[in-house]
Formats: sequence, structure tokens, C-alpha cells
Amino acid sequence: MSPRRAFGPPAISSLGPPGLFYSARRAIESAREAVKGFLSMSLKIDVLTLFPRMLDGFLAESILGKGIAASLLTVSVHDLREWTTDKHRTADDRPFGGGAGMVMKPEPVFAAIEQLQTPGCRRIYLTPDGVPLSPTLAQELSQQSHLVLLSGHYEGIDQRIRDRVIDQEVSIGDYVLTNGTLAAAVVIDALARFIPGVLGEEKSLTHESFSSKLLDFPQYTRPAEFRGMSVPEVLLSGNHAEIEKWRHARALEKTRQVRPDLLNSLRS
Ligand code: 6GU
Repeated sequence: MSPRRAFGPPAISSLGPPGLFYSARRAIESAREAVKGFLSMSLKIDVLTLFPRMLDGFLAESILGKGIAASLLTVSVHDLREWTTDKHRTADDRPFGGGAGMVMKPEPVFAAIEQLQTPGCRRIYLTPDGVPLSPTLAQELSQQSHLVLLSGHYEGIDQRIRDRVIDQEVSIGDYVLTNGTLAAAVVIDALARFIPGVLGEEKSLTHESFSSKLLDFPQYTRPAEFRGMSVPEVLLSGNHAEIEKWRHARALEKTRQVRPDLLNSLRS
């Protein structure tokens, strides 16, 4: 029996002898199946960082906060210093071989990951020298059941951490942040959009940029006339075929101007 069983509804056998309240028993049984299905789908994320408070507002706000409130995903933020053992709660030290900056020590990170990891979980280190985050990777991560995200700091982390307790190294782009905590937030936000129910309307996902490999077309809302600027006539026409044609043309035009590399990758 799965260990998650403990958090599910009561076992049928605890509800009294068979035959009693038959329809109620059936209803409870099907609810139990639904809960089981849901639990197996939901994603648990543990974030390890030296700056846990950086994520407070991010996790509470907006669409992501709603997904968390609805238990579509759970995010636990842990202060790495909780796993230090000395009086000064030392998490970093000078690099062997010399050089500027400090390196994250292996002991607290090993202890934290060994405590948090579960069989089959994916342990990810956020680092500018990792594989670039892409929509494909974000979607793949959204389908996991447990992620441990390690945010590094200072000039790096002891290589033995990467060698032994990290499965994948991920970068969010070709620039360097002072620490990986915002990168962890970016990864969580990017993957959350792929979890069914997190975005209000399912179709907004498929229509958006990058899912279709083109940048977005322009959007307008009321009023139709604002400070002398009017909404393109075709959008008010109600002609859906014409609207689609117009939107595709604008998306293509925008992509050509801003990200011609995306068009090249379409051809290859
Ligand atoms: Cl994942 N971490 C840091 N510190 N800087 C980055 C990054 C990650 N991705 C891009 N720049």
C-alpha cells in the first residue's frame, strides 16, 4: 500500500459492515479513487536556498498562488542553513587552488538533499552553466511527481555536490544572477503553466507564444476607440477566419523582426 494512503479518505472497511449505506459507500469509494488519482498527479517541489524569503511574495501571488492554494502543486522553501552544524551556520568557504569568491560547502547540501529526496525524484541545480530552460523542459518537469531545486550562491558550489546529489543542471538564460533563487522561481512559474487547472482557460496555453513557435499577435480590449487610436477593423468584424489570418500574419511579422532565429528553427 502506498505511503500516501495515510492522507487519503478513511478505508472502506472502517465504515461498518457491508450492505449498510450502500450508495454512501459507493460514493466514498469513488471519491477515494479520485483523490488517489489526484495525489498521483500532483507535483511536490522542495526549494533549497540561502535566501528563502526571496520567494515569499512570489509563491503567494497571482496564478501560481492559486495553483498552490488549489493543491495542484505544493512548494516548500527550505533555508540551507538549517542543515549547517557549526555555531556560525557556515554554508560556504574559500576555493581550493585559490581565486576570488566563495564556494558552497558540500556538507549542508548533501545533508539537506539526502533528507528531502524521494525515490524517483529529480534533483536540479540552478546554474548559468546548465542546460537552457525551454518550453519542452518546463513541460517535462511539470510531469514529474517530485522536484528538489537547489539554488547556488556566491561563485559556485563544490563539484562533489554536482557529481553525487544532482541529476540535472538548468540555466534560465545567458546572463548571470547573484544567486539561483530567482531562477528557481522562474522554473516553477514556467512549469506550473503546464499543470492542468493552473491556467484558468486550457486553450490559453496552446494559443500562446512558443507553443506555436511564433511570438504573440497583438491583443486589444475595450474601448474600441482610445485617445484617437482605434482597434484594427478585422477584430471587430466577427469573421473568425479573417481574424485568424490577421493574427497569424502579425505573429509572423513580429517574429521576423524580433526573433528571426525562431523562424530558422521552424524550417530545420
Ligand atoms: Cl540558474 N543561476 C544563476 N545564478 N544565474 C543564472 C542562472 C541560474 N540562469 C541564468 N543565470
